[in-house]
Amino acid sequence: MVVAKPFYWILVLVFLFAVPANSSPDFLPRARESEFYEWMVGVRRRIHEYPELGYQEFKTSELIRNELDAMGVQYKYPVAVTGVVGYVGTGKPPFVALRADMDALAMQESVEWEHKSKVAGKMHACGHDGHVAMLLGAAKILQEHRNELKGTVVLLFQPAEEGAGGAKKMIEAGAVDNVEAIFGFHLAADGTVGTVQSRPGPIMAGSGFFEATITGKGGHAAIPHHTIDPIIAASNVIVSLQHIVSREADPLDSQVVTVAKFQGGSAFNVIPDSVSIGGTFRAFSKESFLQLKQRIEEVIVAQASVQRCNATVDFLKERQPFFPVTVNSKDLHEHFEKVAGELLGFNNIKDRPPLMGSEDFAFFTEAVPATYYYFVGMQNDSHAPLHPAHSPHFQINEESLPYGAALHASLAFQYLSKSQTPSPPVGEKNSHDEL
Ligand SMILES: *[C@@H]1O[C@H](CO)[C@@H](O)[C@H](O)[C@H]1NC(C)=O
Ligand SMILES: *[C@@H]1O[C@H](CO)[C@@H](O)[C@H](O)[C@H]1NC(C)=O
Ligand SMILES: [Zn+2]
Ligand SMILES: [Zn+2]
Repeated sequence: MVVAKPFYWILVLVFLFAVPANSSPDFLPRARESEFYEWMVGVRRRIHEYPELGYQEFKTSELIRNELDAMGVQYKYPVAVTGVVGYVGTGKPPFVALRADMDALAMQESVEWEHKSKVAGKMHACGHDGHVAMLLGAAKILQEHRNELKGTVVLLFQPAEEGAGGAKKMIEAGAVDNVEAIFGFHLAADGTVGTVQSRPGPIMAGSGFFEATITGKGGHAAIPHHTIDPIIAASNVIVSLQHIVSREADPLDSQVVTVAKFQGGSAFNVIPDSVSIGGTFRAFSKESFLQLKQRIEEVIVAQASVQRCNATVDFLKERQPFFPVTVNSKDLHEHFEKVAGELLGFNNIKDRPPLMGSEDFAFFTEAVPATYYYFVGMQNDSHAPLHPAHSPHFQINEESLPYGAALHASLAFQYLSKSQTPSPPVGEKNSHDEL
């Protein structure tokens, strides 16, 4: 039996119009309104003028709390010394977290401008001032839409990203208990403003440090046969360490061993008793990382013994814990591509190759079922090229702030909306590493 075709078409049309159009609000225009933009820029500049090192972010933390108070956002403080954890939404599960780091670096700013660091020897040279401003921006947007949130957004203002394990302390303080997904980002000098970059799977390397003391027997430089020369032994150790990656690692599995410190004697005519060397190692999987660690120790001890020296190796875990690999959840990558694509245009979502740098955001991959880290571009071809992070000439392009704020807010908002629908949950467990 043949039914008249127009009847089908009417059904199809009725169906199309009955389905509500994409109901998620567009946060980018809000973040770009001039009053909103000026407020975020002001927050960022106030933080920039008073940079604070890890676990000393007292002024920064106070500023954050004052802004959250002004928005009516509730928070916990102190968490991990100076950290602040805000809550927007129903106060009930699901919980999705957004993270910003607050700390500055111990270096002198070389940029001459109105809001230059007022603290000698300290500088926001990694853009964490911008990260805080953008998370506050996201908090404001989400608070304006709090009645539409289908769960709770947890706002993590974290201390001490630059090496002192602030993320680990936040986790130990319970900041991400019951959180099922977390998003974090870094401003990137090498990406274009209005674009974002990421990839599924490993995105930042796991990293560790080592220090070795190579001990011989000192003496007169002109009578070497009466000494056991630790300088020669240490030199051979350093060369042998370079053969671990070049001869033992899979060339397609990126790894690094770098000796960055060599301290020995202090006179031209004295062979010292001992030499100290130190450095870092990086890898993209737990297996490769642990293999490097084992071989670094073996090579140092065995190679030193060739020249009759003894060696001890310390991996300095008390001073600085190993950073795990930062692994992006595949499900959250799909979510990111959809949300960021709708917000910024799909051609502005770029693939990012993995980086040998490491991020303490990686600690969250051990504590939260699904984690996601991405980069927010800053470069504008109409401006001078930007300097890389940790340069004394580093500057933020403040034009990036609305993009980061709106994207943060949208990722969380739509995550909660999505996890209310009966489709399979996003909380896939990462096969991440515990180092
Ligand atoms: C190395 O250690 C052994 C065993 O403790 C010791 O006998 C030897 O003197 C040490 N060698 C040096 C150069 O310190
Ligand atoms: C890039 O800079 C120009 C000139 O200052 C500006 O007009 C434009 O809006 C900037 N682009 C973005 C995406 O902000
Ligand atoms: Zn940094
Ligand atoms: Zn940083």
